[in-house]
Amino acid sequence: MTPLPPATGAPEPTRSSDAPEAQQADGGQRWFRAKDWDAHVSDLEQMADSPGFLRLRDTIIDRAGLRAEDRVLDVGAGTGLLALAAAPRVAHVHALDVSPAMCEHLGRKVARLSIANIDVTVDTATELPLADGSVDVVLSNYCFHHLSDADKDVALREIDRVLRPGGRLIFGDMMFRLSVSDSRDRAVIALLVKRIIRRGPAGLLRLAKNGARIAAGRWEHPAGVEWWRAALERAGFTEVDVRALEHEGGIAAARKSPSPPA
Ligand SMILES: C[S@@+](CC[C@H](N)C(=O)[O-])C[C@H]1O[C@@H](n2cnc3c(N)ncnc32)[C@H](O)[C@@H]1O
Repeated sequence: MTPLPPATGAPEPTRSSDAPEAQQADGGQRWFRAKDWDAHVSDLEQMADSPGFLRLRDTIIDRAGLRAEDRVLDVGAGTGLLALAAAPRVAHVHALDVSPAMCEHLGRKVARLSIANIDVTVDTATELPLADGSVDVVLSNYCFHHLSDADKDVALREIDRVLRPGGRLIFGDMMFRLSVSDSRDRAVIALLVKRIIRRGPAGLLRLAKNGARIAAGRWEHPAGVEWWRAALERAGFTEVDVRALEHEGGIAAARKSPSPPA
């Protein structure tokens, strides 16, 4: 667990354009870029303020059914979309993110808003800095597609470890595969390509660059609904419910088994 540097004044969040879908705050251009999140704090503030992300936040918080005594973990917290919404409803929130700049920014927001029940740490989803069974609810939004499938499995095992028996996991993420064999995957990819092409020559150049990234295995790693369902079951979760949304996203909910497997 890496401690944060002292808080200083944070930049004010900026409002995004009229992004209709979760990822459209930037016109879709960043879809195909590998992210150095340290360099994208203000971009993420915009994205987190887009109607799509705000809808995802509300759905995740609603599905989580948070209670006043809950101890919550937000994995890949970014600028705090879920952590800040959860904090007033629960006892404690641990917000972690692998990006030091993102954590510094969120730490400043938390200090500025005088929120006493959020801790922010620089950590990775594959090595959670928490004791076994110490969390009631794990939340996450649009983080897991940055992990390889193998790391997603590791992260799920870690989440299972830190959850108390009967604890819940609710997350949103891109849910499709870069594949043309499934009709939803085909439709999502066509939608994303169309968004980029609409940008004209710059979009075509972006498309070519991203094609090269995908070919080199340097793009993100979204997984489909079926993959997530199987992975959650593999990790031992019960009450697994994974649903595709009308765009590229999906929401998954699951519960840690109330008793250890026999
Ligand atoms: C699209 S942003 C979403 C942030 C936030 N959850 C939200 O909904 O606004 C993805 C975040 O995941 C973080 N991230 C990527 N890989 C991670 C990892 N292995 N462990 C923890 N966080 C990670 C990034 O630094 C970034 O802040």
